[in-house]
Amino acid sequence: ASLKDRNSFGVAARAPWLVSVDEAAALPEALDRPELRDGLALVLGGGSNLLFAGDPSGAVLELSGRQVRIVEDDGERAIVRADAGVPWHGFVMQMLAQGFAGPENLALIPGTVGASPIQNIGAYGVEVRDFVHAVEAFEPATRRWLRFDNAQCEFAYRDSLFKQSPDRYLISAVEFSLSRTPALKLDYAGLGDELAAMGVHAPTPQAVADAVIAIRRRKLPDPAVLGNAGSFFKNPIVPLAQAEALLVEHPSMPSFRGNDAGTRKLSAAWLIDGCGWKGHRDGDAGVSAAHALVLVNHGEASGVQLLDLARRIAASVQSRYGVAIEPEPRLIGASW
Ligand code: EPU
Repeated sequence: ASLKDRNSFGVAARAPWLVSVDEAAALPEALDRPELRDGLALVLGGGSNLLFAGDPSGAVLELSGRQVRIVEDDGERAIVRADAGVPWHGFVMQMLAQGFAGPENLALIPGTVGASPIQNIGAYGVEVRDFVHAVEAFEPATRRWLRFDNAQCEFAYRDSLFKQSPDRYLISAVEFSLSRTPALKLDYAGLGDELAAMGVHAPTPQAVADAVIAIRRRKLPDPAVLGNAGSFFKNPIVPLAQAEALLVEHPSMPSFRGNDAGTRKLSAAWLIDGCGWKGHRDGDAGVSAAHALVLVNHGEASGVQLLDLARRIAASVQSRYGVAIEPEPRLIGASW
């Protein structure tokens, strides 16, 4: 099966089998099918956070269930359960329309509900960990259904237990704890300004989502128009002393709270921009002219060409600033 239309970079890749399972209950049985028994290479969600630098070595599985239902509701707070295959942005919009608040800053993030906890998707000061109640998954190795509460997911910046052990757990559904009382997070640079520019003075969760959508449309290329996987690098977290030394040399360098008081998070976009890569193009593999952190496929770039460009970008950031940056999307058929 061709995977070209199933990855947001739009690069060519092929899988020996592509198996779609829409009922979680049918998963254990599906895994016994010969094509999956001989090696499940990858679980594919929206294909928006991976780069095929080679073909997957075995079958590709898609969990396509799309049900959303409220499992508990006390009138103020509810537990909402969504199948892995539900598109993330549609889920956010549906929750806001039903009067829930919380995920508004995460509007327009590509991908699926099932993928959202894996890299702990985040934007504009909010991460999905902030309202994941539980993750339900099947573990093929032990043939067990498992349920992870928030702490068991080991969430960190763009990281989780699920990202640490790729494909060990097949996530079938995620439960979210959502409140009907908004607690808006507007402190992220640019969000308050956007709302002001929109003439919004008493923002609702829906207005915040609209502002986030406007910022994202302006800053990030639409994968449907220009292949990309959002941020290609994670923002590096460095020791405080290293951040301070860099700030002496580059006083305008943005930096943010790290994991703890001993670290700072730097802006990979700023570092890459400083090396002159923004808008750079090697054949069809390029760096977005709108955002230095986004690699783009101008047409027929291969995954290998994009990875090669990424490696050269990282090497230049390392030599200019002494900072190691690492890819955010999952690499298939190659390692960093
Ligand atoms: N900047 C530059 N050059 C650029 C773009 C940005 O120097 O071309 C600098 C600016 O100083 C800006 C700073 O970088 O203030 C931060 O930029 P931005 O607000 O766009 O955020 P980011 O750190 O680049 C992160 C996430 C995005 C998320 C935004 C908003 C990561 C790896 N990326 O990007 O997530 O939407 O914050 O919260 O953490 C994604 O993960 O795919 C993604 C798009």
